[in-house]
Amino acid sequence: MEKKQITKIGVLTSGGDAPGMNAAVRAVVRTGVHYGLEVFGIMRGYNGMVENDIVPMNSRSVANIIQRGGTILKTARSKDFFSPEGRQKAYDNLKALGINGLVIIGGDGSFRGAQKFSSEFDIPCVGIPGTIDKDMAGTDYTIGFDTAVNTAVDAIDKIRDTMDAHDRLFIVEVMGRDAGYIALHSGIATGAENILIPESKTDIEDLIKSLTEKEKRKKLVNLIVVAEGDEFGGANELAKVIKERLPSADTRVCILGHIQRGGSPSCQDRLVASHMGYYGVESLMIGRYNVMVGMMNNKIHYTPLDKAVKERKTIGHEWMKIVKILAS
Ligand code: F6P
Repeated sequence: MEKKQITKIGVLTSGGDAPGMNAAVRAVVRTGVHYGLEVFGIMRGYNGMVENDIVPMNSRSVANIIQRGGTILKTARSKDFFSPEGRQKAYDNLKALGINGLVIIGGDGSFRGAQKFSSEFDIPCVGIPGTIDKDMAGTDYTIGFDTAVNTAVDAIDKIRDTMDAHDRLFIVEVMGRDAGYIALHSGIATGAENILIPESKTDIEDLIKSLTEKEKRKKLVNLIVVAEGDEFGGANELAKVIKERLPSADTRVCILGHIQRGGSPSCQDRLVASHMGYYGVESLMIGRYNVMVGMMNNKIHYTPLDKAVKERKTIGHEWMKIVKILAS
């Protein structure tokens, strides 16, 4: 795409909300204003582009939001934007307002939309990774992960107290439809005996065997952290099998759910979001178009959007070995 003078930018949040999205919106708006750009907030993800729900923003519109979870722009997983007619409508609305650059804060689904849009129309896009799942290649951080995983750790610590008091086996399900980062990090940090994630095959026979051995040794307190998207199933599925095969275990299930998506963002999420928001606007201004602004080794790192949506972040299998050794 040819380099052009960016004068008016739109910012939107899309996909699942993540704590720290507001900090990123604030950074985008204030950086844009600082450099003399007009900034517009696009409501409810791509829906706002299709339905022309677009509002002018200034520095004051983003006052007092850095500490708030959710997103003041609201968010959605837009179906309309995935049709050619929807994208044409969105383009016409942006054109009418003179918006000639977009900052999209979201996950890989949101970036797929941005990539398609920028390949069809002359509006450059920049993506900022905002998802609690952390599963995006080209960045060590995604906005929201740190807060979400700390929420999970805090909850699991509390569960541990009651689990220990009753000598129980607890299965805690954390979020992650396709990604096991929240399960892996929160499980290691809370000393889980087993961690089940979609990225590694769950060997149920091995799991039952180790629980049986532990029971023989009178080790009755056991914590299993499972990602909702584990290929074997979530916590309820697992509990069914354990109750059948090991009826003597006093098994309980706790599904943490959307509590992990809410709450005030951690310091790290606010910092990362502020940084990425600033560099997102700078990228548009200097003509670095259609990239995801990530952070690798504590430095800003740019990945072309088409590459960012194709690649997945992998989990090193040495982690699973470490989990086994530390839980023995
Ligand atoms: O992508 C973030 C995420 O929280 C996933 O971990 C989870 O599977 C999904 O969103 C849930 O989405 P929804 O809130 O639309 O049910």
